[in-house]
Amino acid sequence: MSGTPTGIPSDELSAIASEFGTPTYVYDAALMRERCRALSAACGDYPHVMHYAIKANATLAIVRLMRECGARADANPGGEIEVALRAGYAPSDIVFTGVGKSAAELRRAVSLGVKAINAESPGEVERIAAIAHDLGTVARVAIRINPDVDAGSHPHISTGLKTNKFGMSVDAARAMARDIGRHPSLNIVGLHVHIGSQITKTLPLTRAAETLSDLALSLLAEGVPLQHLDIGGGLGISYQAGQAVVSPEEYAAAILPAIRRTGLTLVLEPGRWIVGPAGMLLTTVVDLKTQPADPETGEPRLFVIADAGMTDLLRPALYGAWHDIVAVSPRPGPHVLCDIVGPVCETTDTLGSGRRLPPVEVGDLLVVRDAGAYGAVMASNYNRRPTAAEVLVENGAWRVVRRRQTVDDLLQWDV
Ligand SMILES: Cc1ncc(COP(=O)(O)O)c(C=O)c1O
Repeated sequence: MSGTPTGIPSDELSAIASEFGTPTYVYDAALMRERCRALSAACGDYPHVMHYAIKANATLAIVRLMRECGARADANPGGEIEVALRAGYAPSDIVFTGVGKSAAELRRAVSLGVKAINAESPGEVERIAAIAHDLGTVARVAIRINPDVDAGSHPHISTGLKTNKFGMSVDAARAMARDIGRHPSLNIVGLHVHIGSQITKTLPLTRAAETLSDLALSLLAEGVPLQHLDIGGGLGISYQAGQAVVSPEEYAAAILPAIRRTGLTLVLEPGRWIVGPAGMLLTTVVDLKTQPADPETGEPRLFVIADAGMTDLLRPALYGAWHDIVAVSPRPGPHVLCDIVGPVCETTDTLGSGRRLPPVEVGDLLVVRDAGAYGAVMASNYNRRPTAAEVLVENGAWRVVRRRQTVDDLLQWDV
């Protein structure tokens, strides 16, 4: 198959589909390892630590793989701290990030003694302090700043503008850092920023790094004992042939000059860049329907109805996101104009519109590429659809790392 490297040959994909059915997510372990290594290598000998953003793909085996690769963990509210612990991480390997952490979640993070709670608001800092005081401990806090920088990605995944719900203004963060420095139950360990995801230009990354570093320098000069600067995640991947992206080397060159001025350890929270291209969604064509010919060209157009849909991969329906879709074993013949849609009762359940596929028949296998990040984690049970199986491939061998749900699994929660 051409395009984004997957490393998994078509005959292996066919064998996986026969063994486990479809839809099935298939992950390439070697590619994940390689990308993890490459991103870290790009930072060279500048002191840095990678905390894999579990939100991108929270399947336990993938999180364990990240740990094997030397990455630590970035966990969000919800179950991600528990996933990190079960994957073998120590609390000191975990940064805890995200808007709207509940009291119970903060208590869990404080009592575990995670490496840093990336605090989003003055109120959250107060709640952390009260919990730490109550538990007779000292909580390690980093302040998430909102640098008011446009990441230039899709508005739904941009987080660094002052109109977004994330982080605190630089002025608020400065005041907060001074307060925390004087608080007996809090240790300020760092500053944090994350301006968005799927970023494909260096300038916003540089601006965020500069804002973070400028604030750090002035706080260090006042004697605030910062230990690290957490630049978040956000590095984009090429979903479509020819889509320009930032390489790991360009990424490092964009952020390191600013960070280097502080001498502080750099924390990175990559998700998509590591796991996105290393995963794909394998799906079977279940029906074909003709639709009106293209009004301008008169070209015939087909609906190719797949057994995977928005409940398996939400990104196209949620953001209008593009994923390349290819046949596993392309048939010879002229390509056909088609919309590749899922079986869910929503018109937005479209995996790819206006695509060209080789001649296709019911039963054929298709691959939706670059689905390793924000794919399986965003699945839902709408239409009572069980979530897909997930398979990890390494050295020509594969194993199920998350079994397909059954309808009985779903019904067991109904009381
Ligand atoms: C705070 C934080 N860190 C890291 C990430 C990972 O981002 P990405 O997958 O784009 O690298 C996210 C996701 O948006 C995030 O919200």
